[in-house]
Amino acid sequence: MTRPRILTGDTPTATGLHLGHYVGSLENRLRLQDEYDCYFLIANIHAFTTLADKPEQIRANTIGIVKDWLAVGLDPERSTFVLQSEIPAIAELTFLFAMLIPFNKVMRNPTLKTEIESKGLGDTYPFGFPMYAVGQCADILAFRPELVPVGEDQQAHIEMCRDVALKFNQLYCGVGNRVPPEEHAKAGGVFPIPAAKIGRVARLVGIDGSNKMSKSLNNAIFLYDTEKQVQKKINSIVTGRASTTSPIDPGNVLVQYIETFLARERAEEIKAAYASGKEVLDGHIKAELGAAINALLAPMRERRARLEAPPQPGAATSLPGGSPGGDDLVLDVIRRGIKKANAVAEETLIRAKEAMGLGFGPRTLGR
Ligand code: TRP
Repeated sequence: MTRPRILTGDTPTATGLHLGHYVGSLENRLRLQDEYDCYFLIANIHAFTTLADKPEQIRANTIGIVKDWLAVGLDPERSTFVLQSEIPAIAELTFLFAMLIPFNKVMRNPTLKTEIESKGLGDTYPFGFPMYAVGQCADILAFRPELVPVGEDQQAHIEMCRDVALKFNQLYCGVGNRVPPEEHAKAGGVFPIPAAKIGRVARLVGIDGSNKMSKSLNNAIFLYDTEKQVQKKINSIVTGRASTTSPIDPGNVLVQYIETFLARERAEEIKAAYASGKEVLDGHIKAELGAAINALLAPMRERRARLEAPPQPGAATSLPGGSPGGDDLVLDVIRRGIKKANAVAEETLIRAKEAMGLGFGPRTLGR
């Protein structure tokens, strides 16, 4: 039995995974690893759209992201890690798909527009910047996935990807205009029409209570924070209650975290206690919350420590593949992923080119 496929990815423009990433996307990825054939893509070419002058930084972040993933518990034995720059089919599909998307539609893509604003790109961004949205369609469709688990901010890209796939199947595979998206593959389309899967918490607030959790806003709890750091950050949350018997604002960040990180029944109990007018000590609640978050992070810290440990000559590790620790292990994971990913993506490219009348027999490069 082949499992249905998933593809999702991250751009290595920054390091530092935090709880917002966890509940927004990573948790979904972890959970889906058994049921689905998962492809996790490191969009290192996309990183050049804003960091073309910093190749060393992109390389370091690429290694960093793979380490983050391994620490979180993404498992390269069950899933495939895909390094975008080593999958030529993605680049080829990008050019082909670029013919199927009106230029003005790309430029109206709300995710791109928001990024141009929030990153202060003005009108000096390179041609490749909007192009990355087309590239993202290729990242996804190269693996013919059913689902794309992403954060809410990526929805516009997934919409565009669906449009491309629909158009491709209609133009080149004879799929009728009235065939519903779910039936495109069955009707002979090369591409199943993928659906976005948004995380449990689309937008986790930062410990300041006013903004989305983000490294640059200095309001994040990182997955690699120590127990002490986590507890200290939780303790810094301002609840704004007048006294220990005052109710709490139901939108307060402490309440949001209780709902996100404690079991549902316990969260209801605490909220009822706050509403009852009886004495509730924020300090007790914060200690309980900190402990729950630390319990969630403990196995990640342990895996990270093993990844950071200097390789022991000749010693087997319990990390995937039994290869040495540190960067060697990461490079090994990347290389194995490239091989598995190219097998799938090349197959897609061949099918797509044949459908487009571009099939001229198997090609042999380099001779
Ligand atoms: N654009 C995504 C982000 O910045 C990363 C990404 C690249 C991606 N290719 C993808 C996500 C394909 C999902 C599918 O987060």
